[in-house]
Amino acid sequence: MNILVIGSGGREHSLAECFAKSKKVAKVYVSPGNAGIAKYYECVKLPKQEDICNFCRQNTIDLVFIGPEQPIAEGLSDYLWEKGISVIAPSKFAGQLETSKIFAKDLMQKSKIPTARYQIARTVEQALELIENFGYPAVIKADGLAGGKGVIIVSDLNEAEDALNKITISARGVIVEEFLKGWEVSLFAFTDGVNFKTTLFAQDHKQLYDGDRGPNTGGMGAYAPVPEAEKYRSKIEKEIVEPTLKAMRDMGYPYKGILYCGLMITREGPKIVEYNCRLGDPEAQVILPLLETDLVDICQAILQSEINKIELKFSDKTALGVVLASGGYPLSYQKGFPLIMPSTLSGIYFSGVADAENGLVTSGGRVLCAVGVGKDLNEAREEAYSKAQQITFENRIFRQDIGLRNNTLLDNGDK
Ligand code: AMP
Ligand code: GLY
Repeated sequence: MNILVIGSGGREHSLAECFAKSKKVAKVYVSPGNAGIAKYYECVKLPKQEDICNFCRQNTIDLVFIGPEQPIAEGLSDYLWEKGISVIAPSKFAGQLETSKIFAKDLMQKSKIPTARYQIARTVEQALELIENFGYPAVIKADGLAGGKGVIIVSDLNEAEDALNKITISARGVIVEEFLKGWEVSLFAFTDGVNFKTTLFAQDHKQLYDGDRGPNTGGMGAYAPVPEAEKYRSKIEKEIVEPTLKAMRDMGYPYKGILYCGLMITREGPKIVEYNCRLGDPEAQVILPLLETDLVDICQAILQSEINKIELKFSDKTALGVVLASGGYPLSYQKGFPLIMPSTLSGIYFSGVADAENGLVTSGGRVLCAVGVGKDLNEAREEAYSKAQQITFENRIFRQDIGLRNNTLLDNGDK
């Protein structure tokens, strides 16, 4: 089989690696990929949907796997289906679980899925009134895709006014919701629309600085599995994943692909904070290296509506990833700094890198993710940090405390 992975980051790098491990796969392409991924897999630039379709026909692509949300929001999966090309990703309509937070919250409410209480405001004045009623801290969420900048937590009226000036109030409005106390964890479900299989739990570290301080980012590191979350798995499957898929079927738009549940484990149990319609980045980089079931078999089961026949097997090791970023990220940062690293390092998943005369240079906020795999969290951490230390570039920043959160403490309501 020939596979085309759509996307350009570390997640897509790890997807390509995971597909390449399959004995059923002859060739993996990534579009557009990046200069780091291109060292291992052929990267092709296919800017338009039409280009992707033509490429698939000319190169006998058997399966397209869409990594990021943007092409899903643009309807790439619907387009490829129409052209008879097999694709793993939900339809544009079903993708609204991620692309419209109001669509997602409405669905949660109608299906009685545990989540933060919320209300929709149409104007700044309305939003301020709602926030005053909710009390502080309160959470303000823009409706559409906002590249990680659509959620603002405010602790007083000044901050609320400031946030509402920055955030876009779409035609559908803006969400004001209750702040949930607890600890966060992600769970992914491979689903054919009816049945599903969940992966290992993973924990992302979204804030820029150690101790979960500073601005929100795309994710500064992650690890999997998360043993403390296991006791909530069946509750999450029954109270969150199942009713979500049922609601989509009832609407006439079954959700096929990967459903990402961003969860808060609160004193009252797990609640859903957000859905995404894809794998996480950097969560994919720590889940996929542990996956023992052939990813091609999983994809085929999704396509043939036979996911219930698949056994998802994971190694009993732990994987931990540390993101190396450009100083200044997530705001402005300089690019073009040469990467100095041993060429033999494995478990490095590239994101923001470009080619220059003498090798790779930085070209994005998140530059790469260094992943260690070990028999336990400590070993995985040591391995990941030892790799991270061997990779240098000017203005390099990374968190020192990936995997060190005390989830049980937060579970008792201490945060
Ligand atoms: P989202 O894009 O919805 O995942 O939000 C980004 C981050 O904001 C989440 O990962 C949480 O850390 C935080 N967040 C979002 N909603 C809430 C909430 N209701 N209570 C507490 N934190 C939240
Ligand atoms: N790591 C968070 C995300 O992929 O959205």
